[in-house]
This record gives sequence, C-alpha cells and structure tokens, in this order.
Amino acid sequence: MLVCPVCGSPLQKEERKYVCGNGHAFDMAKEGYVNLLLSNQKRSAEPGDPKESVRSRKEFLDAGYYESLAKGIARIVTEVLPEPSKILDAGVGTGYYLSYLTNARGHKDICHAIDIGKEECRVSAKKVKEAQIAVASVFRLPYSDSSFDLVMSVFTPYAPEEFLRVVKPGGYVLAVQPGKRHLYELKAAVYDCPYENEEKGYDLPGFTLVKTENVIDRIRLKDHDAIMALWNMTPYAHKTSRKDAAKLDELPYLDTTTDFYVSLYQKEASE
Ligand SMILES: C[S@@+](CC[C@H](N)C(=O)[O-])C[C@H]1O[C@@H](n2cnc3c(N)ncnc32)[C@H](O)[C@@H]1O
Ligand SMILES: [Zn+2]
Repeated sequence: MLVCPVCGSPLQKEERKYVCGNGHAFDMAKEGYVNLLLSNQKRSAEPGDPKESVRSRKEFLDAGYYESLAKGIARIVTEVLPEPSKILDAGVGTGYYLSYLTNARGHKDICHAIDIGKEECRVSAKKVKEAQIAVASVFRLPYSDSSFDLVMSVFTPYAPEEFLRVVKPGGYVLAVQPGKRHLYELKAAVYDCPYENEEKGYDLPGFTLVKTENVIDRIRLKDHDAIMALWNMTPYAHKTSRKDAAKLDELPYLDTTTDFYVSLYQKEASE
C-alpha cells in the first residue's frame, strides 16, 4: 500500500490525486504516475537520467536486444510466484522489463514501480498502464511494511533495509547485474585489455540466496547507431577517452555477448 512521504500514513487514491488522512495531497501527472519525492530528498534538481538518454535507452530496449533477460526474468518470477502477486519494480527505467513481465503473466499481478527520475516514470506510465508508478527513491520506498511478494531490482542501486521492510515474509528479491562476459566484445573493440565483470550479488541481511543464474545471449548491433546507443548506456561511456571510443566509429556492426547475472533471494518466513 502507498504511504504518504511526509507523515507515513496510508495514501488514498481520489480522482486525480493521492491524499492522506493528515491532508497531504499529491497530484497525479496526466500520464498517471504520482510524484512522491520530496524536495529535501533530492540530490539534484532533476534526478534520473537526461531526457535524451531515457529516449535512447527506450529505443534500444524496445528493439529487443535484451529480450533474453526480459524472458529470463518472466520465467524465474513465474517459477516462484503464483498469479496474482504483488510486484514492485524498484528502479523501473523505461518500463521494458515490467511490461514484458506483465504481458507474460497475463496482466494478473498487481504491479507497482518507482524510479527517481520523473522522465523514467512518465515513459514507464505510458508503457505499463496497469502499474501504479511513483517518483521515489529506493532508499525511501513509499509503501507500508510487507507490501510485496517480489521486488525486482534491475541494474539499479539497491537498499537492503527497505527491501527487507517492504517484502512480505517468504517473499523475494530478484536482482540483475552484469555477468562476467557481459558486452565483452564491445569492451574488446575499445580497450586493449578488457576485463571480465566481477559477479558479487547483493548483500541482503534477512534474505537467503535461493539461486543465481547467468542469462547469456549473443546479439548483433546492426549498425553504428545501435553500437553507440548501447555504448552510451554503459558506465564505460563516461570513463573512456575520446580516442579509444572513436575505435567504435570504424565498425559497421558488432556481435557481442550479453550475460546477465540474476540472483533470487527469499526473505525468511518469520522475522
Ligand atoms: C541503469 S538504469 C536501469 C533501469 C531499468 N531497470 C532497466 O534495466 O532498464 C538505472 C535506473 O535507476 C534509477 N535510479 C538511480 N538511483 C535511484 C534511486 N536512488 N532510487 C530509485 N531509482 C534510482 C535511474 O533513474 C535509472 O532509471
Ligand atoms: Zn501525510
């Protein structure tokens, strides 16, 4: 259940806003999401990624390059969760994985999502109409205790204490991080000595690791635009010299490995 970010009491949905018993009110945007990030919780004026990055990420994901992961998430969730379940995407980005999951599970779940970026919430609210979406931080989730059967955290900062609080006893956290060989060939096209990623999972007190799985695929980035769209989504884009990054300009296309390290954790049944 959504709670008021000011006083912590339950939020009730009215026509175009959410209100709490103490009179705090939060208008819904026309796309249907609600902004529950208080200004004193913001580290910058516009948290989240710039609009162009969100657009480019959306185009890349919607083109299906990471469909193997979307399928993998839907399969793993369905192995452990009956329908309907209550699911939170904690860092929803453009809504790609949540949308795939709700379609795969026949729209039977009750879905919530948050992201610290307003633009991300706007784009996701259009893509996953049935989800209740809020601008909020993973470090201060606007939900009451034991609200969810599963929280998914895909390439997003994670908050152990908040996850423990909002997941029901016996519920799950599904985490996705880059696997060892993720985008190895893309890195090899730029760096002389590319390294493999370290797979270390999340540190989640109160949860037990149920399983880990590498979801591996090969993708063809069909042209320079696709190569650059992916490159700009990676953390390498910010820490690579122009000279090294320019090596990508010479490639007509690129075949690369995608390797997603998926970990499933279960909260202990009784606290
Ligand atoms: C790499 S993107 C991943 C988005 C999405 N899960 C995906 O895989 O497409 C990281 C996301 O985390 C969000 N984010 C960063 N810090 C956050 C925080 N403290 N609370 C909530 N979201 C956050 C960003 O706005 C961004 O949408
Ligand atoms: Zn309130």
